[in-house]
Amino acid sequence: MKFDTPATTNPIDRMKVVGQPYERIEGRQKVTGTAPYAYEHHEFGADTAYGYVVGSAIGKGRISALHLGEAQKAPGVLAIVTAESAGELGKGKFNVAKLLGGPAVDHYHQALALVVARSFEEARSAAALVRVDYAREDGRYDLEALKDGAPLYTGGEAPAEDRLGDFETAFAEAPIQLDAEYTTPDHSHSAMEPQASTARWDGDELTIWTSNQMIDWGVTDLATTLGMPKEEIRFMSPFVGGGFGGKLFLRTDAVLAALGAKATGRPVKVALTRPQVANNTTHRPATIQRIRIGAGEDGRIAAIAHESTSGNLKGGDPENAVAQTKLLYAGAHRLASMRIAEMDLPEGNAMRAPGEAPGLMALEIAMDEMAEKLELDPIEFRVLNDTQVDPMKPDRPFSQRQLVECLRQGAERFGWNARNPRPGQVRDGQWLVGVGVAAAFRNNMTLPSGARVRLGRDGVVTVETDMTDIGTGSYTIIAQTAAEMMGLPLSRVAVNLGDSSFPVSAGSGGQFGANSSTAGVYAACVKLREAVAAKLGFNSADDLTFAEGEVRSGNRSVPLAQAAADGEITVEDTIEFDQGFTDAEQQSTFGAHFVEVGVDRATAEVRVRRMLSVCAAGRILNPMTARSQVIGAMTMGVGGALMEELAVDKRHGFFVNHDLAGYEVPVHADIPHQEVIFLDETDPRSSPMKAKGIGELGLCGVGAAVANAIHNATGIRVRNYPITLDKLI
Ligand code: MOS
Repeated sequence: MKFDTPATTNPIDRMKVVGQPYERIEGRQKVTGTAPYAYEHHEFGADTAYGYVVGSAIGKGRISALHLGEAQKAPGVLAIVTAESAGELGKGKFNVAKLLGGPAVDHYHQALALVVARSFEEARSAAALVRVDYAREDGRYDLEALKDGAPLYTGGEAPAEDRLGDFETAFAEAPIQLDAEYTTPDHSHSAMEPQASTARWDGDELTIWTSNQMIDWGVTDLATTLGMPKEEIRFMSPFVGGGFGGKLFLRTDAVLAALGAKATGRPVKVALTRPQVANNTTHRPATIQRIRIGAGEDGRIAAIAHESTSGNLKGGDPENAVAQTKLLYAGAHRLASMRIAEMDLPEGNAMRAPGEAPGLMALEIAMDEMAEKLELDPIEFRVLNDTQVDPMKPDRPFSQRQLVECLRQGAERFGWNARNPRPGQVRDGQWLVGVGVAAAFRNNMTLPSGARVRLGRDGVVTVETDMTDIGTGSYTIIAQTAAEMMGLPLSRVAVNLGDSSFPVSAGSGGQFGANSSTAGVYAACVKLREAVAAKLGFNSADDLTFAEGEVRSGNRSVPLAQAAADGEITVEDTIEFDQGFTDAEQQSTFGAHFVEVGVDRATAEVRVRRMLSVCAAGRILNPMTARSQVIGAMTMGVGGALMEELAVDKRHGFFVNHDLAGYEVPVHADIPHQEVIFLDETDPRSSPMKAKGIGELGLCGVGAAVANAIHNATGIRVRNYPITLDKLI
């Protein structure tokens, strides 16, 4: 089905099942440990062997000699895979550095060998006996030191310097000016489940259980890497213990499990250790962001510039931290640009809301600072500078934009009017108390998404798509979509996900998964309705009502199952989004975050006392799973504000605090009150579901709301994340 005009009324609008707060249908499996993760698949049998990854101990250089002798003789060792033994490997589209390094070393903990043994303990023990001689080279590990020499990034779709009007002149002439620099550190996804895979060969065919957000990207890149047809790989990821962008791409666990299984003739499991998760896989790159805003005395922005510098391995991309600044506020004179420093740290790539998450951490502090200079309420300042069109291209409206409503409703609910605008004035015992606000913004992307649906003789509809559920609720909203379309209760729908033998979906990323993948299921169900209509002798599905397990037309009513009485019906379709249609209007999601903090007067410890998020993100397919996504994102945002930082060893080029003891993240229980409001919204231009994404929006702006609340509590303006207590004393 091609989606190229605004959606009209369709069966989803009945909202009998869609839009209801169903608990996750796989929730019980998840919380009882009966949803197996990639490393927990035992069906390959007792001869399954274990691989242990040997990562590089240097940041940059070459292997001068690899001594495997002692390890090879160690108890239980079956094989050792190295770049030399593996022979020529292809490079996947989504990988910058090789997933099996050597002799050149591109970054610390790049995989150099896999030791395969009968047990995990034997593999680990033998891996410690692998000795590597390195010819170490100087690496570039200090972003601050590299900043001034970093060239403009020219590899994106936007011009290297995206300009409108004459920023420099308008800024110089503006009576109220802000020129400030903000920094965000490297972040680690820190999913509960590490990257892990279990692989087995049957002749030329490879079966692999892995932990991946994007099945088709993964299987395609694995096939490229191994130099084989992707049809000969079955790549499965039905349950994923968190992704956050760290599992968007093929990683070394999958490649090495496949190579280890080939080398030993046995099934092989490989899981990355925590330090390898931090240093072997991708991370969110650190940023240095300069923001300049010039406004008139009336508070209207005349000039706005956002310039960001980040680093990456050669060939990698910058963090797109200026993305939201192109679209969020009005202003006739504009500049947005990125610089990229070539570095030798592990590869930077997408982490939840790549671009907007760190970009808004800076921009929304800058907006708070401007409001203070203008002596305007921070909400009024944002409302004053709202725009209903793309500020860079005024003939492009937003399909929906309820930023002002989010701010207003949030202010009302949060009790914003009671805020003391003068910092450092409110005390509660030992605590200095402050409140802060920030806008939330994240683009809405749509990706083609396919599904297969089958009506069984028992009247059960089964959906199959390679869509993944990374803890987000995909199983449930897909089941709700099929149930709504076919007029069934949720219990009469089965959903199978995360298998490369199923139709290619949008996958889980960029908050496009929920809307795109359910739209694909919608398309397949439209076909199934037509097949059912034909089977039951109706002229067309258009005039039929599918409800309560029946197909109805006028006085006639037939059980749905009857259509499959003499054989199940299986159909398949893919929703395709016409990019011309999609691009004619700007599709984005909006929100507002409100935070109250207490800062201990003696120790400067920060406690988040309450949070509220108001989101406008199209139709909410399931208010419970959507709320959970936003609550999780708000919690993650507090991590970004107060704790999260990969500490860089600038001499040796690695992330030092590479485990969950040193890399701290908050949990839900750290924040006593979290509330989420969804504004009523449907967006007929986003898809037949009229939904958008919510999972990343919930993170966007949270960090700045915390920073602004800390400023309101203490009068201290911290522009360098995370806001640890040493920066407040
Ligand atoms: Mo997201 S960072 O696209 O998983």
